[in-house]
Amino acid sequence: KKLSLLVCGGAGYIGSHMARMIAEAGHDVTVFDNLSTGHLEALKWGKFIKGDLRNQDDLDDAFQDTEFDAVFHFSGLIVVSESVEKPFEYYDNNVTGTINLLQAMRKYGVDKFIFSSTAAVYGDPVMDMITEDHPLKPLSPYGRSKLYVEEILQDYAEAYGFDSACFRYFNAAGAHPDSRIGEAHSPETHLIPNVLLSCIDEGRRLKIFGDSYSTPDGTCVRDYVHVQDLCSAHLKALNFINENKGAHVFNLGNGQGFSIIEVIKAASQVIGREIGFDFEPARSGDSPRLVADSSKAADLLGWEPEFDNLTSIIETAYRWHKKPAF
Ligand code: UFG
Repeated sequence: KKLSLLVCGGAGYIGSHMARMIAEAGHDVTVFDNLSTGHLEALKWGKFIKGDLRNQDDLDDAFQDTEFDAVFHFSGLIVVSESVEKPFEYYDNNVTGTINLLQAMRKYGVDKFIFSSTAAVYGDPVMDMITEDHPLKPLSPYGRSKLYVEEILQDYAEAYGFDSACFRYFNAAGAHPDSRIGEAHSPETHLIPNVLLSCIDEGRRLKIFGDSYSTPDGTCVRDYVHVQDLCSAHLKALNFINENKGAHVFNLGNGQGFSIIEVIKAASQVIGREIGFDFEPARSGDSPRLVADSSKAADLLGWEPEFDNLTSIIETAYRWHKKPAF
C-alpha cells in the first residue's frame, strides 16, 4: 500500500536519507524542517514545508492538507557539549517541540510515530555490549532531552493508544553511496567527517580528544553504523508498530567497537595516505566505550545492516566529502 509519511527534520543528515528512502520505496513523503541546521539542497524528494515544531500554525500547515499514516521525527539539536551550555535550547527544541508535534498528531488523528533517540541515554555504560535494558542515566541535557521523549511516548501509548518506535542510534556515519546527499554539519564535531576533512582541506589538522581512556589504545571506542542502515530500520519499524501496539525501543549499531586510532587507520587505507593528528585533552562527557547489542532490532524487525564493516562506511563518507553537493 502506498503510504503518506511526514519526515520532521528531513533536511538534515539522517532525515534527508530517510526522505529519499521513503520516496524511492514508492511512498509519498512530506518534509517539515525549520532549516536551522538542515539544507534546502538536500530536499530533492517529496514535498517541503518550512516550519518550526514550536509553532502551532506551522504544524497546522503540515497536517491540514494531508492525512499522514505515520510521522518520522529527526528534528533535534545534537551537540552534547552545546547542550551543557544551552540547556533551554535543547529542552525547548527537543522536548517542547516534540510535545507540540505529538499534540498536532492527536488533533489530526495520526497515532504512529518513529523517533530518533540516542545511545547517549545510557550515560556511562556498565555493559560491554549495551542492550536496551541497560540503566538509563544520560550525562547531558542532550541525552536527557531524548530520554524524556522516550518516557512521554510510553505514557502516550498507555493513555492515547499511540504506537511508537524509538531508535537509540550509536554513531551514525557514511553517506548515500551515490553521494547526492551526505553529512554536512557546521561546525562539524563528528569523528569520521573530521578525519576525512583533515585530509581534504589543507590547514585542517585532526585533533584526538583524550589518550588515556580505559581502552586498549587509550582512545574512545565507538560503534559506527551507516545512515542508510539506520533508515532501513525505520521503514521496518513502520510495519512492526502497525502489528504490535505500544511504545518500543531499539538499539541500532553494528555491534563492533573501533577506537579513534583504528578509525584513522581504516580511513588512511581508504584515502591511500597517512593521516596526521595531535592529541588534545579529553572532551567532557565522552564515554570510553559505546558498543551496541542490536539483536532486538535483528530479531523483531528483521534488521540486517548492509554496511557492516567500517571500511565500507568510510568509503561512502569519503565519496561525499571529496565533492559535497552542499
Ligand atoms: N573525536 C575526536 N576528534 C574529533 C571528533 C571526535 O577525537 O574531531 C572523538 C570524540 O571525542 C569521541 C569519538 O571521537 O571520543 C566519537 O566522537 P563523535 O563526536 O563522532 O561522536 P560521539 O560518540 O561523541 O557522539 C555521537 C553523536 C551523539 C550521540 C552519540 C551516541 O554525535 O549525538 O554519538 O553514541 F549521542
